[in-house]
Amino acid sequence: MDLRDNSILEAPTVVVEPPGPKSRELLGAQEDMETTSLNYPKYFRVAIREARGSTVVDVDGNVFLDWVAGIAVMNLGHNNPTIREAVEKQLDSIWHSLEIPTEVRVEFLKRFRSTLSFEPRVLFTTTGADACEAAVKIARWKTKKKKVIVFEGAYHGITAGTLGFTYQGEYKRFTPVYDDQAIRVPYPYQFRCKDEDCLNHSLHAVEEAIKLNADEVAGVMVEPILGEGGYVVPPVGFLRGLREIADRWNVVLIVDEVQSGVGRTGKVWAHQWEGIEPDIMCASKAIGSGIPISLVAYRRDLTDLPRAFHLGTYRGNPLGLAAGKAVLENLTEDLLERVRAVGEMMKTRFQEINEEISGGRMDVRGRGFMIGFELVKEEKRPWPEGTTAMIDSLFKRGVLMYKCGIHNNVLRFMAPLTTPEKLLDRGLQVFSSALEEVERRRTS
Ligand SMILES: Cc1ncc(COP(=O)(O)O)c(C=O)c1O
Repeated sequence: MDLRDNSILEAPTVVVEPPGPKSRELLGAQEDMETTSLNYPKYFRVAIREARGSTVVDVDGNVFLDWVAGIAVMNLGHNNPTIREAVEKQLDSIWHSLEIPTEVRVEFLKRFRSTLSFEPRVLFTTTGADACEAAVKIARWKTKKKKVIVFEGAYHGITAGTLGFTYQGEYKRFTPVYDDQAIRVPYPYQFRCKDEDCLNHSLHAVEEAIKLNADEVAGVMVEPILGEGGYVVPPVGFLRGLREIADRWNVVLIVDEVQSGVGRTGKVWAHQWEGIEPDIMCASKAIGSGIPISLVAYRRDLTDLPRAFHLGTYRGNPLGLAAGKAVLENLTEDLLERVRAVGEMMKTRFQEINEEISGGRMDVRGRGFMIGFELVKEEKRPWPEGTTAMIDSLFKRGVLMYKCGIHNNVLRFMAPLTTPEKLLDRGLQVFSSALEEVERRRTS
């Protein structure tokens, strides 16, 4: 790997039980002034001083191993020197340019295009949800139809336009949701599938839904691996099956790579595992390495879009583009190979821990550095309390790990792809001790 990893190699180091006094002070000030609706500070009771590579230092001097990476954003590690140089260079040039071309914009576009097997046109957006909104808008524009087939467990954002496509009810309580634009079908979630042929059960549901609503369906929107829905890896053939169905019915296939993209699964884009070409792809999160940037790429021959089809002042921010270009340049075949090999090793180790401590009760699945560890009480009964207890126990021992899943019971491993193996080893030891503690509490 020629990317310079700058993780703090002594991690994890807990010098004072978090939250230490300085963290408490900053947390208190935040609580006083910010909204009460924050989420992450409820789980990670700490204030951050700095972050490097796959490590995060709090204001009291604790060094954490970061297996969250800002929710799959810091794929090349925090404060990556190579990305930093690219952004610093851009700071000398221009910070905001509307849609007027700059060198960095064109260089980014060329580099981005080289990562795809289809000829894209790119529409820059500002967030993952904005990209998904624009994607659906393009599908509707192309087909002059409204409805979108979406999946159980899906997460495409929580703006008014995307909330109807997102699955989980807890996000929908706060705003009117136009669910009638979404037709919900099962994702092939093998661990929880009632049908033996999970793959065809799901594909059949998609095709039936299109058939029944043929005059209204614009497209199918899918995550190649379910992200917020539980790091669920579908059986091989799922995306190919969707591609065939979309072609058969002349509807648009939208692949949402917001969480699964940018090398996370060991390919630049997760749909490339199945060798398919989407009609529209959404990307965000890791593409800017922490500097907000997102986009929709659509097949060049799909449609022409009129002027001002989708707007947003900050779209295609030059600093994000500089970071993005550097990120894509550094997603080398060597790095992707490492993600695949080390990811497999991590999955095996998680499975060994599962066997050893939980008698193999839990479900371990994933691809590359996108691994889910689903906690169940007995049989397959979800264990969300155990999952929260794990987050807490890991945190106290110096490892940051977060959850997902429709039952809030999946721990997700989403460390930076550059994390040194030594630190992964240490993280696994901590994971093992935390699981032992949580299992002990379950049976006592
Ligand atoms: C697959 C997927 N799509 C869309 C989004 C929404 O992205 P954002 O939070 O940037 O709006 C997310 C966020 O987690 C995501 O995982």
